[in-house]
Amino acid sequence: MTEQRTPPMTREYLMCPPQHFAVEYAINPWMDPAVEVDRELAGKQWELLRVTLTDLGHTVHVLPARVGLPDMVYAANGAFSVDGTVYGARFRHPQRRSEAAAHHRFYLDRGWTYIPASETNEGEGDFAYVPGVAGGVILAGYGFRTDPAAHAEAQEVLGRPVVSLRLVDPRFYHLDTALAVLDEHRIAYFPGAFSTAAQRVLAQLFPDAVLADDADALAFGLNLVSDGRHVVLNSAATGLAQRLAAAGYRPVAVELTELRKGGGSVKCCVAELRPAPPQT
Ligand code: ARG
Repeated sequence: MTEQRTPPMTREYLMCPPQHFAVEYAINPWMDPAVEVDRELAGKQWELLRVTLTDLGHTVHVLPARVGLPDMVYAANGAFSVDGTVYGARFRHPQRRSEAAAHHRFYLDRGWTYIPASETNEGEGDFAYVPGVAGGVILAGYGFRTDPAAHAEAQEVLGRPVVSLRLVDPRFYHLDTALAVLDEHRIAYFPGAFSTAAQRVLAQLFPDAVLADDADALAFGLNLVSDGRHVVLNSAATGLAQRLAAAGYRPVAVELTELRKGGGSVKCCVAELRPAPPQT
């Protein structure tokens, strides 16, 4: 019998449609401007992802896409929020830099506390939150995009311990390509994307993690969105889907072939908004 995991919680997400999506430059090993992108198909696949999340009972806010920002569909990179406070993004590459302002506007209009970053960081691309470990810990990746100085800055802004993890494989250039939070306590990750020391840290903190292999990671399986029970992930990651089901989760597969050409999948397209918990 499979173990029952935490019941699903209603989540709040932010997505940005791939209206102006294109692969015009290459800032990660997956991007090849010579490969054709079917923007219409990208739009259909994106919409199916949005509907999948709303059908699961979640709220999805939509950030309007801006002309000239072909990577803006990867909304996870725009900011990182914990308990109603937002730590703004500061993109490494000039091509994406103006995306941060669009996210800033979104949070300002809704009255969130938004703290702009002085240090280079790519939001939820490199930051993940595990609410049930030690009162809430932040896992943070560095090595390709986010500067380790941003880890300390995030800790100051958000008041949660930040665990720095060094990424070593350029194909897994953001933390969210190699590690995902499944529920309050549990994560899934691909050890090979991390330095030996970071692997040890993860094994120490998360002895019950679901471990992914390189096939899972290369299929962008870890770039997933979980509500604690349903795990929405790339349909190519069949091995990981089986492992998650065996661990008591419900995998929900979605096809995102076009957005993969930009080096992203489910999680990259979905920022999670973590409002302050209701006062009791
Ligand atoms: N083309 C984008 C970049 O390289 C993809 C971002 C993927 N986002 C993510 N959260 N991993 O910046």
